[in-house]
Amino acid sequence: MIPAKISCDVVALGGGPGATPGAQWLARQGLRVVIVEKGVGLGGTCLFEGCIPSKILLETANRRFEVTQGTHFGLSQTSTPDVDVPSLMNRKAKILATRATGAARACEQLNMTIMYGTADFLSPHEVVVRRRDQSDVILEAKWILAAPGSTASTVPIPGAQTPGVWSSADALQMPQVPKTITIIGGGYIGCEFATLFTRLGAKVHLLEALPHILATEDPFAAQAVRSSLLAQQVEISESVSIRQIEKETDMAWNVHYQTAQGEEHIVSSQRVLIAAGRRPNTKDIHWEKAGIHLGTRQEVPVNDYGQTEVPHIYAPGDVNGLMMLAHAASRQSVLVAQHIVGQIPTESFSEMVVPHVIFTAPEVASVGADSRSLEHNPTWKLTKWPYARDARALIVGDDEGFAQVIWDHKTGQIKGMQVVGEQAGELILTATHAITHGETLTDMAKTIHPHPVLYEVISELLNAARLEQSAIKGDAS
Ligand code: NAI
Repeated sequence: MIPAKISCDVVALGGGPGATPGAQWLARQGLRVVIVEKGVGLGGTCLFEGCIPSKILLETANRRFEVTQGTHFGLSQTSTPDVDVPSLMNRKAKILATRATGAARACEQLNMTIMYGTADFLSPHEVVVRRRDQSDVILEAKWILAAPGSTASTVPIPGAQTPGVWSSADALQMPQVPKTITIIGGGYIGCEFATLFTRLGAKVHLLEALPHILATEDPFAAQAVRSSLLAQQVEISESVSIRQIEKETDMAWNVHYQTAQGEEHIVSSQRVLIAAGRRPNTKDIHWEKAGIHLGTRQEVPVNDYGQTEVPHIYAPGDVNGLMMLAHAASRQSVLVAQHIVGQIPTESFSEMVVPHVIFTAPEVASVGADSRSLEHNPTWKLTKWPYARDARALIVGDDEGFAQVIWDHKTGQIKGMQVVGEQAGELILTATHAITHGETLTDMAKTIHPHPVLYEVISELLNAARLEQSAIKGDAS
């Protein structure tokens, strides 16, 4: 049967944060937009296998943990609740469905067409959609937003492909909380899952190939998370080389690894989770038919406006391998939409100021430069402020957190900030705003905050940095 052919202005390949915001933006401009999604709904990895479900599970894990801290807050009832996994999964499913339905409704209200099926290139202007009912449709479009996202990386470890080895997506569907779990990879995902599982009551062993977990993070922040995981009884082995993953039964696994000193070890656990990075989801798409050559990491290379080497095809989101963060993908998506209609985008990709948060305990949030940048920038300074000196922090029970700001002593301009502790992800927002707008310590310190709120950690931090700046200038004003 000859497939039906539909002409439109824009095809969005993928229904995640890389495609949907831009597609909606274009639909608002009156363009005819078709969005093609191979999964069960709109939302992408973020909604179905990433940010949202992991935070739903972490919310439960953190609340469970809080109960054990009751005596600290004058409560005598401190027994640890059991985790009701079916009801937790039910809660997760409801939130996910609400979000996916909301996204689909928003697209429909904009007269967009949502097509569920798998999209592939036929030519630079044509995409074939293999729909679930097996019927094919060819979409011919002036512009294409190719945003198929990313997928968990495979690792060259014997046994890593054995059915039953968990990816992060599998772990989020767990039928029950394992008593013991080995996590391979101490990056964002590995550390968030270590926090999740230890707080759900599992014994966790975290294995990392590099000398330190969270190796891409500010070293002070990474060290704080490391100490906290250790205090929460997570076993951490760094500089290890994994030899083999061996299955005994579905609930009994052995991970063989070698230490930097050459000692061979075996860790046995009920589950093994691999969290060793993500790669662009480019494998099953015929990019060459569109005239696109993949990069060395199998990513789709783009210019500073998200355009591929074929100018009417844009690749926002994880697929371009620049920044695998949902909020970066959403912004890239809107920037490419602006570029498509000939507007000067709000900013180019390289101008984006993108904060990130690691939802460990303590929570880590970071934007812009971190302490490692001081080495190369002689006029930059680092100022720290401890949560322990803040009233609200003491009230909420966090006397270990800290915030640090990196600033230029010549101009007072803020270059970066890290917050490690309660509500770090919320506290980083004002610094993100300040850096986006090129603000100085004085600009940022002008804002009056209510009292008593955690934000006072940041205002005290700014005051301390301003004092340092005055001292450097020899000016006490
Ligand atoms: P990652 O690249 O951040 O960390 C992977 C870790 O696994 C690295 O430390 C690496 O050295 C280690 N590793 C790799 N192969 C190994 C092996 N064979 N044995 C032992 N260790 C090994 O990747 P991750 O954590 O999987 O996250 C992927 C992406 O997802 C991140 O880049 C991040 O952008 C995004 N993400 C963001 C989150 C957030 O914003 N809160 C949360 C989770 C993920």
